[in-house]
Amino acid sequence: MAVAQEHEILVVAPATADLLAKLAHGLADDFLTTLYLAFTGPVVLAPAMNVNMWRHAATQGNLETLRKRGHRIVEPESGYLACGMTGPGRLAEPETIAEAVAREGARRKDLEGETILITAGPTQEPLDPVRYISNRSSGRMGYALAEAAAARGARVVLVSGPVALPPLAGVETIPVRTAAEMREKVLENLDRADIVVKAAAVADYHLGRVPAQKVKKTAARMSLELDPTPDILAELGRKKGDRLLIGFAAETENLQQEARRKLEMKNCDMVVGNLVGPELGFESEENEVILALRTGAVIPLARASKREIADRIFDEALKLRLALHLAHER
Ligand code: PMT
Repeated sequence: MAVAQEHEILVVAPATADLLAKLAHGLADDFLTTLYLAFTGPVVLAPAMNVNMWRHAATQGNLETLRKRGHRIVEPESGYLACGMTGPGRLAEPETIAEAVAREGARRKDLEGETILITAGPTQEPLDPVRYISNRSSGRMGYALAEAAAARGARVVLVSGPVALPPLAGVETIPVRTAAEMREKVLENLDRADIVVKAAAVADYHLGRVPAQKVKKTAARMSLELDPTPDILAELGRKKGDRLLIGFAAETENLQQEARRKLEMKNCDMVVGNLVGPELGFESEENEVILALRTGAVIPLARASKREIADRIFDEALKLRLALHLAHER
């Protein structure tokens, strides 16, 4: 389809509820939905509809699918609607739509030529041949980072712990299980990386000597003596060179203080701090983070899809690298 190849951004304004449903489910029964499936660049959608249709779970579910795919949704305005009701559903102002298109245009291929090494997911530390200790990381944050970087033209190497996510097209994925395996693959691929993003939830402790046979259950209490795992991020901080090193901090309190501490302790250029808890951080489709930068700045990012957060992290990382480079020049 020549039209799909000849254009850089696909903008649909207004986008009706019916169209959003067709795009979310991959229907191709007319020119626009066929064009959408054949198009590989950024997509900007500006929905407009009756307020109840906008609020309906089906519409919101379709929007969530489209956001996770990395499409930019220009939220409708609230006010008096053509159907006589009031509330969200009015097409956004042309300036707002134009601003979203400009931002997508600026992002397009701005990571071309970069090799980005990303870690994602949990690690599993064996206790015997059938048991292990791990954590609740689903890999969504790391995979969103890999997807965003690949969409913006980067060559992406994703070192991933065990996750239940589909493999990403256009991303070199290296599966690992333990912290030691993750460290080995990260160091193996470090030389070719311009930017490293450590989103994985690496176990801090493991069993030094794993028994060869399954530990039999008895009535007696069992205690485990665990050893620290290698701190991969700290090691990368010592070998950083002139690459950009982005760490994460998963905290339940003192987020900004802990993010800054990790930034300094591990010689990172940026630490993405996120509160984790029952409904936050792990496993969720959304995240809310602060970016602690080597320049001393702290940038809060409001709750958004992990893909939107990932794009914003790369937006700020590119600006940070330029700022650090200019400061170094002075
Ligand atoms: O995967 P999701 O379900 O989407 O959840 C996302 C997330 C909450 C896992 C993610 O946003 C996140 O916070 N990842 C970092 C989790 C973590 O291990 O945070 P930490 O504060 O314990 O570790 C700090 C940093 O050191 C991290 O960059 C981590 O990758 C790194 N680390 C930790 C331990 C270790 N032995 N080696 C490391 O490199």
